[in-house]
Amino acid sequence: MTTILVLNGPNLSRLGSREPDVYGSTTWEELVDSLEAAATTSETISVRQTNDESELIGWIHEALDTRAEVILNPAAFTHYSYALRDAVAMLTSAGIPVVEVHISNPHAREEFRHNSVISGVATGVIAGFGTQSYHVALSALRSRR
Ligand code: DQA
Repeated sequence: MTTILVLNGPNLSRLGSREPDVYGSTTWEELVDSLEAAATTSETISVRQTNDESELIGWIHEALDTRAEVILNPAAFTHYSYALRDAVAMLTSAGIPVVEVHISNPHAREEFRHNSVISGVATGVIAGFGTQSYHVALSALRSRR
């Protein structure tokens, strides 16, 4: 059985009403349902969101301890959280995959979004496909097992 933690940073629980021109009209609840429904019989998918950096880092530690695969949308933490980067580096250096995902394409947006402090330690990055980015990340994880 493979456990996949789908971890989301600040403001992502507001999907559907948050800047729909940027993030689309799929609601947070619809995203959670679609990811949980995508689990195969040999997968457990746990989708979580927090506005708290400490809680997010705690979940990364949990993934390390349980060897769970991770799909991570760090949201705004992408651009400045060295603490989150260090936590992700522990996972990937232990051979546990972490796919960084973004709903929008940060490179096509404001300058401050062009840099991710996470990408350099992630296994890979998927951005710009709306909420489908998460499903692309899921198939990327499956393809490397
Ligand atoms: C985001 C992009 C980030 O720049 C932003 O702060 C978010 C969402 C995305 O999924 O497109 O909150 O990670």
